[in-house]
Amino acid sequence: MDFKQLISHSKEYGFIFQSSEIYDGLSAVYDYGPMGVELKNNIKKYWWDSMVRLNQNIVGIDTAIFMHPSTWKASGHVDAFNDPLIDNKDSKKRYRADQLIEGYVEKIDIKIMKDVAKAKKRFGDDFDEVQFRATNQRIIDRQTKMDDILGRMAALLTAEDMKGLKALIEELEIACPESGSRNWTDVRQFNLMFSTQLGNISGSESKLYLRPETAQGIFVNFLNVQKSTRQKIPFGVAQIGKAFRNEIVARQFIFRMREFEQMEMQFFVRPGEEMKFYEEWKSKRLTWHKSLGTDASKLRFHNHDKLAHYANAAADIEFQFPFGFRELEGIHSRTDFDLIQHQELSGKKLQYFDPVLNESYVPYVVETSIGCDRMFLAMMTNALQEETVPDADGKDSKRIVLKLPAAIAPVKVAILPLLKNKEQLTNLASDVYHKLQSHFNCQYDEKDAIGKRYRRQDAIGTPYCVTVDFDSLEDGTVTLRDRDTLLQKRVHIDQLLAEVADSVSMSNLLEKL
Ligand code: GAP
Repeated sequence: MDFKQLISHSKEYGFIFQSSEIYDGLSAVYDYGPMGVELKNNIKKYWWDSMVRLNQNIVGIDTAIFMHPSTWKASGHVDAFNDPLIDNKDSKKRYRADQLIEGYVEKIDIKIMKDVAKAKKRFGDDFDEVQFRATNQRIIDRQTKMDDILGRMAALLTAEDMKGLKALIEELEIACPESGSRNWTDVRQFNLMFSTQLGNISGSESKLYLRPETAQGIFVNFLNVQKSTRQKIPFGVAQIGKAFRNEIVARQFIFRMREFEQMEMQFFVRPGEEMKFYEEWKSKRLTWHKSLGTDASKLRFHNHDKLAHYANAAADIEFQFPFGFRELEGIHSRTDFDLIQHQELSGKKLQYFDPVLNESYVPYVVETSIGCDRMFLAMMTNALQEETVPDADGKDSKRIVLKLPAAIAPVKVAILPLLKNKEQLTNLASDVYHKLQSHFNCQYDEKDAIGKRYRRQDAIGTPYCVTVDFDSLEDGTVTLRDRDTLLQKRVHIDQLLAEVADSVSMSNLLEKL
C-alpha cells in the first residue's frame, strides 16, 4: 500500500485525524482517533514494560512539560537547538537548508537504486548487490559524490557556517521545488523551541518553553530518583511524554510533527563505561523492534556525522518508511554534559557516591529516545496490506488488512451475532461480549452482512472474530476466525478466553526480549 492509502486508511478507520480539521487543520499537528489511541497506548505500554518491568534497575517518572527557564539555558537548547533555514524569494517558501541538500543527495541515491534494480532483473538469482556496488564505475562515482556532499554539509553544520551552506546550495544549483527558481535568501539559524509566558511575573524571567525533549525532566530529577529508589549505578529512568518543536518544514504526516510524544530512557553509568552501555543499548533496542515482527531488512543503524552538542557518540535506528529509510529512534552517549551544566547553573551538586569505588562523581548518560508517533507510523507501514483471499463463496476477493501484532492491535476480539434481528443470537452475543470485555478490548458489531463485518475488523487489525450462530444456541459453541490465516474453528464459549488470551497477551512479546 502506498503512503497516500495509508493516510486515508488512518482517517477512514479512526486512527488519525488532522488537528482542528473543521478549520482546515493545523499544520503538522494531529489527533489520534478511537482506534489510534488504543494502538498508541499499546505501543507505549510495550515500551514501558520492556524498560521498567523487565529491568530492575530502570524506574519510571512523569515530569511536567513546563520547566524552569534555566533548564533550557543549561541544556544548550536556548543557544544551540537551531535549524538552518532558507527562504526562496519567489515562492516565499521556507526550507531547511540541510534538507534541501539531503534532497539533492537522495535523488542521486534513487539513481543508484534504479541501476541496482535493473541489474538485479538482468542477473536474476546470481546477482550479488555488494559486489555490483563495489565494481560498477557509475555507482562508485555517484556514491563518492554523495559522500562528499554529505561530508561537506556535516562539517558546515558543525562549524555553524551559514554562508558555507548557502554557497553549497548554490554550487549544487538546487532550485526551489515550488517555484523552480534559485533566488535564495541567506541561511539563518532558527530556534525550534516554542515559548510562552508565566502569568504572574513580567519580563524575561516569565518566559517559559514547551519542552523540546522529555530528557531534561529526568536529568533535573536525577538525585531525587536515585535517593528515593536507592538505585545503584548503572541504573535508568524512563519517561513517556509530549515534546514540542517548531519544525520549519513539517511534512510526511505524523513523521515530523510540531507536537509529538517521546519515549525516552536515560541510563546513568560510571564515566568511562559509557561506550559499553551505548553498544549494549543499541543492540537491545534493535531486538525490541524486531520482536514486533519488523523485518530486519527494514531496519538499519546510521551513525551520526554531526553530533548534537551533548553527545560523544550517536546512532539512529532507521526504518524503511514509505518515503525511504528515516530515523525512528536515537541512541546517544550524552556524556556528563547535561548533569554538569545543571550543576553549574543551579549551584546544586548532582553527584553520585559510588560505594564500590568509594568516590563521588557526575555520572555519564546513555540515552535511548524514540518518537511514539514515528513508531506508530512504522507499525502502520509494516501492517497495512492489500490481499486477495477467497470470499464466502470461494471466489477471489480483495481485502485490506492491518496485520498488527495481536498484542498491540486496538481491538483483540470482535463479537458478531450472525443476524441482528434474532434476539436469541444478539442476547447470546452480548453475553459473550460481557464475558470477554474485562479481559481485553472487544467490539460488538451486528450491522451488515457477516463478510462485510469481517472486512471492517480486518481493516482495524482485529486478530479474532467470534461469530454467534444458530448452532451456538444448541451447543454453546461459536466460530472463531483468525485474521491472518482466515481459519475458522468451533470453540465452546467457556473455552474462548483460554483460546485467545495467550496469543493477544503482551507477555508473549516481552518474553522475546
Ligand atoms: N532526547 C534526545 C532527542 O530528543 P532526537 O533525535 O531529537 O533526540 C528523538 O529525538 C526521537 O524523537 C526521534 O528519533 C524521533 O523518533 C522523535 N522525534 C523527533 N522530532 C520529532 C518530530 N518533529 N515529530 C515526531 N517525532 C519526532
